[in-house]
Amino acid sequence: MTPLRSGGSVPGVVEADDLGTYVVKFTGSAQGRKALVAEVIVGELARALGLRFPELVLVHFDPAIADGEPHQEVRELHGASAGLNLGMDYLPGAVDFTPEVAKTFRVDSLEAGRIVWLDALTVNVDRTVHSSNLMVWPTLGIAPPRLWLIDHGAALVFHHRWDGSDPAKRYDFRHHALGHYAPDVRAADAELAPRVTEELLRGIAAEVPDAWLTDFATPDEAREAYVTYLYARVQASAAWLPTDFPTREELAAEEALRAAKTQEGRPKWLKRVPDLHGKPAAEQDWSVHLG
Ligand SMILES: Nc1ncnc2c1ncn2[C@@H]1O[C@H](COP(=O)(O)OP(=O)(O)OP(=O)(O)O)[C@@H](O)[C@H]1O
Ligand SMILES: [Mg+2]
Repeated sequence: MTPLRSGGSVPGVVEADDLGTYVVKFTGSAQGRKALVAEVIVGELARALGLRFPELVLVHFDPAIADGEPHQEVRELHGASAGLNLGMDYLPGAVDFTPEVAKTFRVDSLEAGRIVWLDALTVNVDRTVHSSNLMVWPTLGIAPPRLWLIDHGAALVFHHRWDGSDPAKRYDFRHHALGHYAPDVRAADAELAPRVTEELLRGIAAEVPDAWLTDFATPDEAREAYVTYLYARVQASAAWLPTDFPTREELAAEEALRAAKTQEGRPKWLKRVPDLHGKPAAEQDWSVHLG
């Protein structure tokens, strides 16, 4: 139906032959197949732990669909993506959880804790204040709007360097999108860690298509590597549990300091730094390039 140019990988909103509408992530994107593996494993883990995450489907995409696509970049992306791709149920009317939306949207500290905990377990460094990869839905009607997780393509960073990554490693989650909701990660850890069993992880890894698992001699060896790593990491949760979240005021002060530093050495004509809060930078916003 249309390319989603706000996404770095330019996903497509696609109507499939089951008449469902999906946000499709393409195997031909620069992020590659590993991003799709991460989407499946982290998304299905989120769902299994009771977090809201739209349904995923495997989509057979025929690049001929894009023959009439006017933009060369998008046409090339579709041309490189024949066969199996990943679709996520499209949430009609959903809005991105931006700092603006966050001002009036309440999140309780246990829900915030569960989401931060999942991100820390799966090393998802792409759920920050300015790129939350959270959506609020539904926005019309009588059902209350809720937080939905999307976009886990940047998680599981360990799969880019299989032998060099310590499962107990701590990561910096100070700028997590939900950091200033007082996330109760200890309660989340007590509740969720025992539920992440090897059996659960095996079931989830089994859902990843063979064609995307090419790091090891066989797809099953790759699946077992994900299970082993994530199981070791969940057992080491005491070592990586993120707890030092700055307050809103501390974050604002940090940011002001950083902006002042950036400005210091600049000539006068470069001193006006645009305030991009919540908005994509020009190089991420395809509408700038593609009209
Ligand atoms: N299931 C969905 N329903 C409705 N809108 C969606 C859905 N998934 C994604 N979007 C919209 O598309 C945008 C891009 O999606 P997503 O973040 O998954 O793509 P991406 O290419 O991985 O992005 P990036 O790498 O820039 O974060 C989202 O910010 C959101 O506005
Ligand atoms: Mg995103």
